[in-house]
Amino acid sequence: MTATKGLEGIVAAQSSISSIIDGVLTYRGYDIDDLAEHASFEEVVYLLWHGKLPTKAELDQLIADLNAHANVPAAVIYQMKTYPKDANSMAALRTAVSSLALYDEEANDMSPEANLRKAIKLQSQIPTIVAAFQRIRSGLEPIAPKGFKSLAANFLYQMTGKEPDKVAIEALDKALVLHADHELNASTFAARVTVATLTDIYSGITSAIGTLKGPLHGGANEAVMAMLEEIGTYENIEPYINAKLEKKEKVMGFGHRVYKNGDPRAKHLQKMSHELGKITGNMNWYNMSIKIEEMVTGQKGLKPNVDFYSASVYTSLEIPRDLFTPIFAISRCSGWTAHILEQYADNRLIRPRAEYVGPTNQKYVPIEQR
Ligand code: ACO
Repeated sequence: MTATKGLEGIVAAQSSISSIIDGVLTYRGYDIDDLAEHASFEEVVYLLWHGKLPTKAELDQLIADLNAHANVPAAVIYQMKTYPKDANSMAALRTAVSSLALYDEEANDMSPEANLRKAIKLQSQIPTIVAAFQRIRSGLEPIAPKGFKSLAANFLYQMTGKEPDKVAIEALDKALVLHADHELNASTFAARVTVATLTDIYSGITSAIGTLKGPLHGGANEAVMAMLEEIGTYENIEPYINAKLEKKEKVMGFGHRVYKNGDPRAKHLQKMSHELGKITGNMNWYNMSIKIEEMVTGQKGLKPNVDFYSASVYTSLEIPRDLFTPIFAISRCSGWTAHILEQYADNRLIRPRAEYVGPTNQKYVPIEQR
């Protein structure tokens, strides 16, 4: 038995939800470029859950269901008000999502119908939780969802209390489409491992949120913005990046375990970053990102991943930096729940082996002789 570090190249499951073949990402066989151009996030959610694009009636029903379930139990909002004001946003989301299970009487109902209903609740309540967290820590009351036809619009409204503008809704919607699913990424794998014990869907999503939080995964988008802010000016880029690369430190938002010739999602986010920079009149973050890309790709051959340009996109949308990863979770909830439903439908416990490299033939020594 020989272990492969980081399970690189190991095929750990069969799935019909999304694929990465020769650098091309598809959801249910639809190229991400096609979906990013044409599909709404709600259509993608339906596609991931049901394996086909919705008809108009099916889409309307899904939007109605998402709106109907978007209110978070009052007890969860009450608990959130007791969280420290400086709580880590992903820790807060993980805790709140875990506690949703306490107030859902069908939390442990394992029927496919109940699990689909819980997927709808999670998909609609995670944005409500993220928006409520932002308002509570700002000393404001959380706002109930308004029933817009788009989750992106509801979220922006619930976060700011203002009618969101069309540009912001469309940009966020596209970002949600691009982040929705990604084969056996670390958080999705964590979700599948969790529910393969036949525990409940809330446990699976709680595991996934904890896994997404890390800077090698979803947490990289916040780390990219922190880096841009630390660099501060265009002139500082060269010395900063050169020093990082010399010290063999990682530049956040670059590299990928699967894509070695570039992440197909990055070009869409780059384009959005450019367009939003023009609209807001602040091209600074975009220009700095382009320069960093030139340097890192030029010197290391590493290409930007999904997290790199999403940082400047979200900043242009005036979203606080530490909500970038929670927004990733809002989107990826669709993929996580699709994978959980797929796992339940044909389950087998996920239990790999370890290559033992520790000492052997040890003999117990009584404590007073050690
Ligand atoms: N900056 C500088 N060097 C890098 C970077 C980077 N961002 N990424 C990889 N490298 C280098 C490593 O130092 C290593 O060099 P070495 O062979 O000289 O030691 C080599 O490239 C291979 O890197 P690994 O970390 O072994 O690659 P792995 O497949 O394990 O990791 C990962 C992939 C985690 C994405 C890595 O590229 C990384 O840490 N990137 C920065 C964090 C990031 O952006 N994460 C988001 C990924 S996308 C997502 O999850 C949504």
